[in-house]
Amino acid sequence: MKIAPSILSADFTCLKDELQAVEEAKADYIHIDVMDGHFVPNITIGPFIVEAVRRASTLPLDVHLMIEKPENFIDDFAKAGSDIITVHLETSKHLHRTIQQIKELGVRAGVSINPSTPAEALEEVIEEADLILVMSVNPGFGGQSFIPASLKKIKKIRKMLSACHSKAELEVDGGIKPSNIGEVARAGADVFVAGSAVFGSDDYKRTIKTMKEEIGVTE
Ligand code: DX5
Ligand code: ZN
Repeated sequence: MKIAPSILSADFTCLKDELQAVEEAKADYIHIDVMDGHFVPNITIGPFIVEAVRRASTLPLDVHLMIEKPENFIDDFAKAGSDIITVHLETSKHLHRTIQQIKELGVRAGVSINPSTPAEALEEVIEEADLILVMSVNPGFGGQSFIPASLKKIKKIRKMLSACHSKAELEVDGGIKPSNIGEVARAGADVFVAGSAVFGSDDYKRTIKTMKEEIGVTE
């Protein structure tokens, strides 16, 4: 069970402090949202910022590519220090090849699906993936509401993963907060992205602790 704060909602005027604060608050991954203004209607950050985040945090970098032709940028994001690179199924014409490309660089490979993409679309690649990322909002912006139909999809994918004895992580992204993280965990997710819920709160430590308690993580 892991919490992955998304820096999309962090204060970029003091990114190093923000990264240190979530690390001290016992975040497990740093989630980095890369948007290109084509696949999603927003532009965010590139490999240059990922490389800076790499120097400012010791946590694994969970890089979520919401970009077209992701295969053209995988080398750059790997060199920048990504530990996980997730591509969208909707963006990669040769997804099987793209997954191998990520793994050959020694990086864990994730596959993400939009709310409108059925779980079944993952069938042919699920055994290859190190992580499946279910979007529980339409990608592009932080601070949107969790789409309830995602719960059914998470349950379905959890079953698909068990059926092939996969050890892949099942991550959920969008609208996760202390009040709904429990039911998302019960549906079968084990990595939880939280942008506005963490960086929009005034006490990151307390927020992450509450979220962990809700999913039964106590230390
Ligand atoms: C949305 C991004 C998310 C976003 C989550 O396109 O992929 O990672 O930052 O933000 P919240 O947790 O605020 O929904
Ligand atoms: Zn994301």
